[in-house]
Amino acid sequence: MIYPIVAYGDPVLREKCKPVENSEELQAIIENMWETMQAAHGVGLAAPQIGKAIRVFVVDTSGFVEEGEQDPEGLGDFRQVFINAQIEDSSEEEFAFNEGCLSIPEVRGDVDRPEEITIRYRDAEWNEHVETFNGLKGRVIQHEYDHIEGKLFTDYLSPLRKNMLKKRLGNISAGKINVGYRMRFPKAKR
Ligand code: NI
Repeated sequence: MIYPIVAYGDPVLREKCKPVENSEELQAIIENMWETMQAAHGVGLAAPQIGKAIRVFVVDTSGFVEEGEQDPEGLGDFRQVFINAQIEDSSEEEFAFNEGCLSIPEVRGDVDRPEEITIRYRDAEWNEHVETFNGLKGRVIQHEYDHIEGKLFTDYLSPLRKNMLKKRLGNISAGKINVGYRMRFPKAKR
């Protein structure tokens, strides 16, 4: 099942998400999140983006790799669900990357984030992992992790840039945008 993706301005995107217990319902939600992310051609999707304030996100970095391109980071086959994740460590060194978000279509911005993070999480089989990620994998994981903490990439932009985006963000909340996937708009007139 493909869920509508919650747009900027919905309060669920600002919630600090709660840990979950394993259940058939949770496994079904995860399956549907994969389907929803793929339909929107995303590289990541977090549960609040489908209206659920739980600590779950999925990452699939294959979209970064064109066919026949070299893939030194192994992005082409990286696909992982992160359940009840906690970032345990992050590097001092940061790098900037131009980010976007399925909840904030057609808005992009450069965000500085740690180059490397260590994260504790459970996979779909409920095995616990503590792993270190860097580069673009670490980047997407940190963006999605922010979602389960109630943060958005636009929070990191300068006040000037935020001011410039104000009208566009208002239009997104109101549903006044053309987007190639199903969305739910908090301020759309019915
Ligand atoms: Ni996002």
